[in-house]
Amino acid sequence: MIKQLIEKYYLHFEGQPYVFRAPGRVNIIGEHTDYNDGFVLPAAIDKYIYVAINKRADRKIHLFAADYNASYETDWSHIEPTTLHWPNYILGIAAQLYRKNNHLSGFNICIDGNIPIGAGLSSSAALGSAAIFALNAIFETGFSLMEMALMVQQAEHEYAGVKCGIMDPFASLFGKKDQAIKLDCRSLQYAYIPIAMPGYQWLLINSNVKHKLASSAYNERRRQCEEAVIILQKRFNQVKSLRDVNLHQLDQVAHEMETTVYLRSKYIIEEIHRVSEACVQLAAGNAAGVGALMFETHSGLSKDYEVSCIELDFLVDEARYFPGVAGSRMMGGGFGGCTLNLVKDEQVAALEAHVKGSYQAAFGKEAYGYLVETSDGAAAVPF
Ligand code: GLA
Repeated sequence: MIKQLIEKYYLHFEGQPYVFRAPGRVNIIGEHTDYNDGFVLPAAIDKYIYVAINKRADRKIHLFAADYNASYETDWSHIEPTTLHWPNYILGIAAQLYRKNNHLSGFNICIDGNIPIGAGLSSSAALGSAAIFALNAIFETGFSLMEMALMVQQAEHEYAGVKCGIMDPFASLFGKKDQAIKLDCRSLQYAYIPIAMPGYQWLLINSNVKHKLASSAYNERRRQCEEAVIILQKRFNQVKSLRDVNLHQLDQVAHEMETTVYLRSKYIIEEIHRVSEACVQLAAGNAAGVGALMFETHSGLSKDYEVSCIELDFLVDEARYFPGVAGSRMMGGGFGGCTLNLVKDEQVAALEAHVKGSYQAAFGKEAYGYLVETSDGAAAVPF
């Protein structure tokens, strides 16, 4: 991949590039809790966006995406969102850099990667993370990893129109091999937690479904959570987010809310609690305990938060009744992408074969399995 990337760079640009990469992520538990000031438990994985990059002598910005065989050109004083979509993740970063420092020279950047797009493994945050990590290195702008994570999130808000939380860029930049990261999305304090469960594997199963309306539904969920907070604040004035509320308090204002808003809030309050529970079970090596929580998360995401789809529900049900499966749930923003499964070593191949067959029969589509390998966060790649 790196050899090809560099060849593409030479084909389009002059001079020697530097190469950087940033990983995608899985999330063990804590879904849609990041933008509610709650906890998440992501881990960076060994699938990456790679960038080859260097400065230019002028003020131009030239992008080339190997995946799409497409170019985009602009300069520092004409950065704006484009309908082409893929350049936006880099332009959104560049726009913020320009606001902080408008004396930078131009740059050439060539992008490639092996994170399946639309699989819920956070390829867009990996692209943003690779871009800011690389720009920070070549221009020596001195941003901390946390500042960079916040810039990637901001880019997604401003240039992709998705009001995402901090989880994905955080995982891509702070990832550590063999570890998940328990992140408190309010204080931004974090702790590394070993992800291995002796005798078990983490298996992703890709539904191969990508819903077109996923980002508008995502933003709608966020609005519904904010609506709940406004109602709760009238009764409990110290409440800043759903993180500050328990189910008893929620029930006291239930009659003032639409049922949908109530159910969304209930899910979030329960899920924030489940992350801490899951960390205890992980530390105790209790696969059954972690797995039970994963099934609860799935049920909440499907019935109360309503971000699942029939294909994901099907994959979880197939896993639920399969021997050796401790837990299964949809992962990420929802409406498609992967399920995450905690499966006994000796049953991994059998589960994958079984699910592939039944999924093909039910939907006429292929489901792919990947074993999760964890990784370090964004880094320079020597070549
Ligand atoms: C997407 C967003 C994240 C997070 C997840 C759901 O991946 O980018 O911020 O909200 O969905 O947990």
